[in-house]
Amino acid sequence: MASIHILLLFLSCTSFVYRCDGACAEPESDTQAVVGRGFKLGCLSCKRRSEVKATATVEWYFKAKGEVDFVQIYTYTEMGPTIENEHFLDRLDWNGSKRSNDIQDASIYILNVTLNDTGTYRCFFNRILNYDNYEYTTVVSKVVYLTVVEKATRGTASIVSEVMMYVTIIGLQVWLLIEMIYCYRKISAAGEEALREAANAEYLAIASESKDNCAGAQVGE
Ligand SMILES: *[C@@H]1O[C@H](CO)[C@@H](O)[C@H](O)[C@H]1NC(C)=O
Ligand SMILES: *[C@@H]1O[C@H](CO)[C@@H](O)[C@H](O)[C@H]1NC(C)=O
Ligand SMILES: *[C@@H]1O[C@H](CO)[C@@H](O)[C@H](O)[C@H]1NC(C)=O
Repeated sequence: MASIHILLLFLSCTSFVYRCDGACAEPESDTQAVVGRGFKLGCLSCKRRSEVKATATVEWYFKAKGEVDFVQIYTYTEMGPTIENEHFLDRLDWNGSKRSNDIQDASIYILNVTLNDTGTYRCFFNRILNYDNYEYTTVVSKVVYLTVVEKATRGTASIVSEVMMYVTIIGLQVWLLIEMIYCYRKISAAGEEALREAANAEYLAIASESKDNCAGAQVGE
């Protein structure tokens, strides 16, 4: 029975996993944008050792649906942002870390999304950690799969997770109710038992006491 409980908890946690995470959480990597609207391409790389000074530059690449190769579309350095590809001309804005060379959030924003923006996006963090005597370079890369649709629809994943949430909540309630009934029965059974035992004990005590009295009376005579 305990294992069912744990399973339910596990299921409810997996459906909330994006909200459970801390401040520097991974964005969903499977996303949907709507034609004509804006869309934020999320990309985070949380730094582990914040005491080390670091600088980072960011590059974004794009592989259109049906294409084979990635093309560079965006660069962000201390010099500022650059749009590298004419398909995205005037359509990309920086949504990442501001006023910092140590970028941890490299998100960009696509304006006026078109159907041709469907594809795979990849961001690269090139981070240089400055230790006292040497520099250390790390490269972190994240992938976002973007699907562009004409009109907003709810993804099946979100519907499934909502249904799962209700199933889980109802399941937990039923479980709690069963547990309560079970416990109530157990407690009341134990209570009766205790009462019976107490009554027995009292009866025995009285009985032995009266026996003692009798014995005393006999001795006294
Ligand atoms: C991202 O950039 C767009 C366009 O500049 C802006 O409208 C939007 O508010 C920004 N979002 C965040 C979270 O910074
Ligand atoms: C985006 O769409 C708006 C409204 O349709 C238009 O005014 C604007 O010029 C477009 N921007 C770009 C960069 O295409
Ligand atoms: C999408 O790409 C096709 C083929 O490259 C091109 O003919 C079309 O004009 C593009 N559409 C938009 C909205 O950019």
